[in-house]
Amino acid sequence: AGVAERVRAVVAAHRDQRGALLPILHAIQAEFGCVDQEVVPLLAAELNISRADVHGVVTFYTDFRAEPGGRTDVRLCRAEACQSVGAERLVAHAEQVLGIKLGQTTPDGSITLNQVFCLGNCALGPAAQVNGRLYGHLDPARLDTVLATETA
Ligand code: FES
Repeated sequence: AGVAERVRAVVAAHRDQRGALLPILHAIQAEFGCVDQEVVPLLAAELNISRADVHGVVTFYTDFRAEPGGRTDVRLCRAEACQSVGAERLVAHAEQVLGIKLGQTTPDGSITLNQVFCLGNCALGPAAQVNGRLYGHLDPARLDTVLATETA
């Protein structure tokens, strides 16, 4: 099916839910791997709201991606507690070994690197979430091990 039909099917499945836009956006991301710019006007038309409204929600929630992410999702915590125990060193290390900046995906599509602000794991900082799993007490060497395991 074409993009428009797939979008319409997702909207149809969720349109009766309260605050339908959020569940619809999650379902769109599950279907396409991201919320592409091209989908925004389609959603706006289907839901009878403005493109700006759709765009506003997509950009407000960091859960939504404008491009497909890598197969391994890495989120490094940069909030205060983790900062105080070396989060920045970890970020610099990850950017260096992966050759990308925060918010980017490696050219081979294997890893997306992102920042988060607190994972509720402050006592075990520096913390990170990789493919949904929580890791603590990270240092560059341990992060390398985690990445090797998670991408294997
Ligand atoms: Fe990093 Fe809370 S500050 S987990």
